[in-house]
Amino acid sequence: MSSFKAGEAVWIAKLGNLRNAIRQELIGRQLDHHIPSGATMLDVGCGQGTQAIRLMHRGCTATGVEPSPELLAMFGADAEEASLEPELLLGGIEQLDELVGTRTFDAVCSHGLLMYLPDTARAIDTLARRVAGGGLLSVTAKNAHGLAMRPGLRADWPAAIAAFGTTTYRNELGVEATAHRLDEIERHLEASGFAIESWYGIRVFNDAISGEINPPLGGRLEPILEAEELAAKTDPYRWLGSQLHIVARRAGE
Ligand SMILES: C[S@@+](CC[C@H](N)C(=O)[O-])C[C@H]1O[C@@H](n2cnc3c(N)ncnc32)[C@H](O)[C@@H]1O
Repeated sequence: MSSFKAGEAVWIAKLGNLRNAIRQELIGRQLDHHIPSGATMLDVGCGQGTQAIRLMHRGCTATGVEPSPELLAMFGADAEEASLEPELLLGGIEQLDELVGTRTFDAVCSHGLLMYLPDTARAIDTLARRVAGGGLLSVTAKNAHGLAMRPGLRADWPAAIAAFGTTTYRNELGVEATAHRLDEIERHLEASGFAIESWYGIRVFNDAISGEINPPLGGRLEPILEAEELAAKTDPYRWLGSQLHIVARRAGE
């Protein structure tokens, strides 16, 4: 079970905002460096299918696993409009073995899910078992290293002070969730036989902006993305991103 359901309506209402546009575009551009055209991909907690659709446009085959019928229907409708044919499976990570059996995939993605799950080690191991030999696992998590940044930049001093010494937070959907440290995720990945290939900090400069701002912002979006893309892969900036995007490969393959 995850705690996401309470925030689902807000998630859907805010899907088109600038915060999400930056996050999705950065993750997409980063995946372009790791997932080759033609790969098979499994997206667990795929939601509306943004990354799966992007990868299908590059010739990948996508399977989406999602417990929300509303979000899965949105994914299906967008895919149909683009004449794409993903495999859509209704259910959660808890039912993954039932849903996909013993199949493995060149790339397994799970973005925006770990923060809502009670057992990170188990979730990572469940995802890892679905990755084919030599394949990739791509996960995003709320960044525990920079938890005070958003309230601090918004001058919410009590919340900024409270963010030190904790890994829980109330997110933009109004849901209590859990942040993760890079070393914690790395330990779980290693236990499942994976080594980190690259990691990125998502939304370094734009995490404090309001959820009410929507793109396209005229020609201003591209320079925002370019600056964020550079910060996402450069120390020390990436440590302060709102989320960690971690791409790992099966060790020794
Ligand atoms: C923050 S949204 C992220 C959606 C999409 N992956 C993205 O990055 O845009 C979290 C998604 O995880 C799904 N989810 C919630 N609980 C889940 C579970 N137990 N197993 C799999 N997915 C779950 C939600 O329904 C939602 O679609």
